[in-house]
Amino acid sequence: MINLSLLLSVTLGFLIICSLLSSRKTIVVHRLGAPRTIVTANPENVEYILKTNFANFPKGKPFTELLGDFLGLGIFNVDGDTWSTQRKLASHEFSARSLREFVVKVLEDEVDNRLIPILENAAENGGILDMQEVLKRFGFDTICKVSLGMDPFCLDLSRPPPPLAAAFDAASEFSAMRGTAPIPAVWKLKKVLNVGSEKDLKDAVGLVRGHVDEIIRSKKKKINGGDLLSRFLESGVGDEMVRDMVISFLMAGRDTTSAAVTWLLWLLTSHRGIENRAVEEVLSVRNGRLGYDDLKGMNFVKACLCESMRLYPPVVWDSKHAANDDVLPDGTRVYRGNRVTYFQYGMGRMEKLWGEDRMEFRPDRWFDENGAVKTVSPYKFPVFQAGPRVCLGKEMAFIQMKYVVASVLSRFEFEPVRKEQPVFVPLLTAYMAGGFNVRVRRRGQQ
Ligand code: HEM
Repeated sequence: MINLSLLLSVTLGFLIICSLLSSRKTIVVHRLGAPRTIVTANPENVEYILKTNFANFPKGKPFTELLGDFLGLGIFNVDGDTWSTQRKLASHEFSARSLREFVVKVLEDEVDNRLIPILENAAENGGILDMQEVLKRFGFDTICKVSLGMDPFCLDLSRPPPPLAAAFDAASEFSAMRGTAPIPAVWKLKKVLNVGSEKDLKDAVGLVRGHVDEIIRSKKKKINGGDLLSRFLESGVGDEMVRDMVISFLMAGRDTTSAAVTWLLWLLTSHRGIENRAVEEVLSVRNGRLGYDDLKGMNFVKACLCESMRLYPPVVWDSKHAANDDVLPDGTRVYRGNRVTYFQYGMGRMEKLWGEDRMEFRPDRWFDENGAVKTVSPYKFPVFQAGPRVCLGKEMAFIQMKYVVASVLSRFEFEPVRKEQPVFVPLLTAYMAGGFNVRVRRRGQQ
């Protein structure tokens, strides 16, 4: 695991240096056993790939087969008609106000009854808390309640993660390992022989699917919730498809929000002036409970989140595979079967895109000179992807992140145990190596 983290961090460094040096903001990488790979940090190319010529840049088999055994035919891992049917159905549900209100109720319960007591306890006892682990467990409870209508009770630090969470972690990790094999034939052979990480992957996937199948069986006896699974079952989706769909939602929504909030909380510990402004905003809108409409506001907190994700995006890069030969707007030639990767992490750090102070954490860059929120092209800031396949949970993610940041910052302050810059590890979802260990104080107390 340490070696994998190191390998990924080195790859990240290599890509950023290459793309910064390239005047086109695009590089072509040749790697033995892998398709010719184009890595771009050019917003015009990103727009072309994700929107203008969307049909020519599906995820493609080389990508979908990595996650295929885990995600099956779920929305996250399919192209073409199988994708567009699920996308239409899910977009319809995501636009329902009832789902948004359900999400806020889930957050209220999880924050009031689990997150805040853990932080109060840590503040009382002066112990050290790994906020990354706390937020990760919080994220898993939340996405399970929203997607499955089921509470795994993961946010209980006195116990190891429950079997579903552990199996989910294992299945994601072993699927990601396929992508790091020197040539795909290696993991394919291990799969045929059912040995090593491929055997572990099969076991983990069996556990996840078994759990979800069981939840579907009992839910079908009595559909009773505002959760996504109930909604999909009510629309008549078949059992296997609905299972794959909700597993995709768990996968997409599980660690992304916790990664974003972890990095923001860390950044704020060295930018106390910005933290105070965020707290002021929270206190000005917080009249008792936080409702959906309060959460739609909070522009400064949102700017802090965007600025943190610009520097530390939860999804670091994302790849498509060309269906046919093509030419990108900057003149780069693409051949059928080439991998085309847009590079969120690199884009967030480019002087040409963000100016000389690009390495500074400065939420004010998200406002214009009159203090109004700036419109920033999603192709310059594609942390949620963009175009027809833009992240379906984007709005939900902001609601969740603002809820957590507002609830936590208005009550507590954090002091990192380590003073040095943490290491950013770009796995399927990026994380902080070694966790984010902090001492917790009630806000305003010395
Ligand atoms: C800060 C939080 C989040 C970030 C940065 C993020 C980012 C992304 C990105 C980059 C993609 C494209 C990935 C790819 O195609 O390979 C994506 C897709 C997706 N996300 Fe998110 N996401 C976040 C939170 C969520 C949440 C909370 C949910 C669910 C409730 C969610 C649901 C989805 C789904 C279903 C897709 C697939 C959409 C499709 O293929 O049509 N995301 N997200």
